[in-house]
Amino acid sequence: MLKAKIAVLVSGGGTNLQALIDSEKSGVLKSGEIVLVISNSASAYALERAKNAGIESAVLLKKELGSQEAFEEALIKLLDEKGIELIVLAGFMSILSEKFTSHYENRIINVHPSLIPSFCGKGFYGLRVHEAALEYGVKVTGATVHFVNEIPDGGKIIMQKAVSILPGDTAEVLQKRVMQEAEWEILPMSAELVCAEMIKTRGV
Ligand code: GAR
Repeated sequence: MLKAKIAVLVSGGGTNLQALIDSEKSGVLKSGEIVLVISNSASAYALERAKNAGIESAVLLKKELGSQEAFEEALIKLLDEKGIELIVLAGFMSILSEKFTSHYENRIINVHPSLIPSFCGKGFYGLRVHEAALEYGVKVTGATVHFVNEIPDGGKIIMQKAVSILPGDTAEVLQKRVMQEAEWEILPMSAELVCAEMIKTRGV
């Protein structure tokens, strides 16, 4: 059976990309294949991870392309050229327009480091999510994988996993625990779920 072609969009360290790469090796991700990594930052360590895994990568810079619209047009061109079926946002720190998200309806998923609908939406990304959770004083947080639509962090939820907040946690400590206990587990599992469904419906 032909695997679904996956592109992973990144901006930084790429530990979630690594979890996806590892899950392909371990067999958790078996219905999809990562064929392309796209970064919107030239210095993202995620690019090294792609290289080490022998995965093709590309860098698209909004600054060079001139506008968000031009950036998204270049992105669509690249994704369509490669026949990408699933787009995984793994620490991709840029909000995509409705034009883009509607072009790939139900074909974009994102991992967010909180239990949506808490601590999500515009302005909540990376460490700031964990700072907000600690500031609020919640005792349980976690991660969510969801489909991406025109509302930031507003698409249908695919999987969630809860993680305890412990006394003395800093945002950095909590970020690491949420990644280890939740994100790196539910992102590959969700990618597999969506790819398996895609393959089933395309009937190959
Ligand atoms: C992850 O915690 C991811 O959930 C978060 O950024 C980090 C990226 O780490 N994403 C967001 O906050 C998106 N709203 P990584 O580059 O090591 O995967």
